[in-house]
Amino acid sequence: MKISVIGCGYLGAVHASAMAELGHDVVGIDIDAHKIEQLAAGKPPFYEPGLPEILTSAMASGRLRFSTDIAEAAGAEVHFIGVGTPQKAGSHAADLTYVDAAIQSLLPHLAAGDLVVGKSTVPVGTAARLAAVIEASGSGATLAWNPEFLREGFAVKDTIRPDRLVYGVAPGEAGEQATALLNEVYASAMAAQTPLIVTDYATAELVKVSANAFLATKISFINAMSEIADASGANITELADAIGFDVRIGRKFLNAGVGFGGGCLPKDIRAFTARAEELGRGDSVAFLKEVDAINLRQRQRVVAMTLQALDKPVYTAKVAVLGLSFKPHSDDVRDSPALDVAVQLRGLGADVVATDPQGIENSRLRHPQLTYSTSIEETLRNADAVVLVTEWAEFKQIDPVSAATLVRVPIIIDGRNTLDAAAWRAAGWTYLGLGRP
Ligand code: UGA
Repeated sequence: MKISVIGCGYLGAVHASAMAELGHDVVGIDIDAHKIEQLAAGKPPFYEPGLPEILTSAMASGRLRFSTDIAEAAGAEVHFIGVGTPQKAGSHAADLTYVDAAIQSLLPHLAAGDLVVGKSTVPVGTAARLAAVIEASGSGATLAWNPEFLREGFAVKDTIRPDRLVYGVAPGEAGEQATALLNEVYASAMAAQTPLIVTDYATAELVKVSANAFLATKISFINAMSEIADASGANITELADAIGFDVRIGRKFLNAGVGFGGGCLPKDIRAFTARAEELGRGDSVAFLKEVDAINLRQRQRVVAMTLQALDKPVYTAKVAVLGLSFKPHSDDVRDSPALDVAVQLRGLGADVVATDPQGIENSRLRHPQLTYSTSIEETLRNADAVVLVTEWAEFKQIDPVSAATLVRVPIIIDGRNTLDAAAWRAAGWTYLGLGRP
């Protein structure tokens, strides 16, 4: 099938490459000439395991190309919209400028029978509004909403083998045609019996934001429990294991620590709250404000634990920060709890040296005031305290015995509850976890 993908950021670049990998003929379009240049050269502008490989193989097959010219979308039957919906400046609402601009620029190039497919995360009601815009253009194209559930770090796998597909379609024949086209796009997932929900626009939009809201709530729930565990001497990891065995609860997303970040969960729960308030239903999701507050509190908690553990004033201390990206397997530092902790400690006057396998470059752009090192050894050398805030395998594998010989004071604050506390203590470290005695 001929497909265009408008927006070649995280979502779009992966989607375009994956669709070409699945055998479709794809053009990826973005207004950012630099990004397009990099992609066309086979180099993704961000770190995502597996993406360089499928990008290169799809381009070599001739099925994938990139352009800054929206006119190149003409001739495709399906046009995916994968542009960003960041948090609006000065507000909690989502900024829909890029989605609106993408649709407007696409309109002149649409033909009868084309299907425009929204993948961006949008406030409920957006798809209905955009469907009316497309209809009014008289092109004869229609709209579907097909939310994306990919996780950074596993984006290629999640796109090629999604755990479910959701189509929000118009009622009647237009919806049936949209479903048939999307089934063709996702033929390989269909063949693999991937669960499919065909629904209306509003439900499809809400599925996405409510899924992210649920995941955020789960993380904040366990973090709230870890605060209680700290106050009572209980062990949050054992608690999570024990409640996680209940299949109704499940163990995933019950890791207490410095909390969630990234380009999705934080902004999505805020945008959801803002949209619910617009709909006069702010009370229904008022708990998400608490979810956000609990989450942000974990960053303060890790900073406070560090200050308390130090044997000298923070402005005379060297603090080694292990981790900058918002989670492992990613170079994304948007709203990263790890970077936030590093910045806060630096703001308090600490000599912060931070390391991360992938996140240094992006962190340096935002916070040039921090000292970065690509060497774990250099980062640890003479440190008065070590703070682990992203659970990269490289950090989990640090040998506590040899690490103890590098630092000035062997204190480790495990902001991800990921280390073997007993092993670190046995090597002479003061080990501090969150809700972990
Ligand atoms: C999230 C969702 O998981 C995806 O399903 C969704 O498609 C995506 O947002 C999106 O909206 O595009 P992602 O942002 O890649 O994916 O990251 P997650 O794996 O969800 O992790 C989010 C944050 O939660 C990370 O900072 C992670 O460290 C933290 N986390 C996760 C915890 O603190 N504890 C846990 O137990 C799990």
